[in-house]
Amino acid sequence: MASSIARLLLLAASATPALSFCGAHTHLDRRQEGTVEVNEFGYTGTIGPLLWTSLDPEFNSACSEGMRQSPIDMVAGHFNMMPGDSIGLTIPDVPEGAKFENLGTTVEVVMAGLGGGLTMSDGTVYNLSQFHFHHPSEHIDNGVSMPMEMHMVFQSEANEVAVIGMYIDIEDPAAAPSGVSRSYTRCLDANTKLATRNQLHRRAPSSLLETVFASVGEIAEPGSLTRTGPLVMSEVVDALMAGNFQAYSGSLTTPPCTEEVSWFVSTQKLVISASTFMNARSVLGYNSRYPQNTPGEPNLLALAAQS
Ligand SMILES: *[C@@H]1O[C@H](CO)[C@@H](O)[C@H](O)[C@H]1NC(C)=O
Ligand SMILES: [Zn+2]
Repeated sequence: MASSIARLLLLAASATPALSFCGAHTHLDRRQEGTVEVNEFGYTGTIGPLLWTSLDPEFNSACSEGMRQSPIDMVAGHFNMMPGDSIGLTIPDVPEGAKFENLGTTVEVVMAGLGGGLTMSDGTVYNLSQFHFHHPSEHIDNGVSMPMEMHMVFQSEANEVAVIGMYIDIEDPAAAPSGVSRSYTRCLDANTKLATRNQLHRRAPSSLLETVFASVGEIAEPGSLTRTGPLVMSEVVDALMAGNFQAYSGSLTTPPCTEEVSWFVSTQKLVISASTFMNARSVLGYNSRYPQNTPGEPNLLALAAQS
């Protein structure tokens, strides 16, 4: 349970005082009850993503040199489409609620030790460590930025990292209900038709996200923590399995930008109410790394330095 990713990165990098992982773990003692260590990087100015390497040149060099960095624009050809049920995903419900922490760079629900995991077709087993949120989305949905993105972070025994990404959109109460008839849509003008088509796949606001963000006001301050209400994880697991994953090999989207992270960006989107979105936004502020170059191509910062 204590086998956090921070520990593995610490081991890998020998001794570095401050490290973080996809908005996650900073220091080894962070899990002390009542203590949340705040990350030292940020998203704007001189601690922002253009200068992450300068915060720790040796340890964070992948941020400015890596050629498989995340996030990316999820354009066909840059990922492999996989059926949602091809990664064996199990996440038990958490009726007692889970720790919910403000790391300064994101808000995170701590899931280590709660039995969530996934099993790849090659037999590799990953345990769910945590899930956290970005505003706006980090991945770009084929050219379109989404209001938010959830990252579910998994870790294997051999310290491999896999992340499931899920876009979060804002509920449109005026959207046509699914199953709207063709004869009805034929009567609508082009804009309404487009909006209707875009809304057809949408569900009611996610009860998991509404539950989690109901507590976000309690952790408005970086370094604070609370507990969520009861978490019904099956809603999200069912949604993920019913969709597809856009899979690619990328990196952590936060320092130290470590590569060989297996990304699974779902084609299923979650929806939250507008008021919940505004509550989440007021705490998250802005915490999205800019889109990186196509996987395999030179790091954009290296190209910028040459130009
Ligand atoms: C994964 O969780 C199981 C129990 O659910 C535990 O026995 C195992 O050590 C965990 N593995 C890792 C890598 O955390
Ligand atoms: Zn993240």
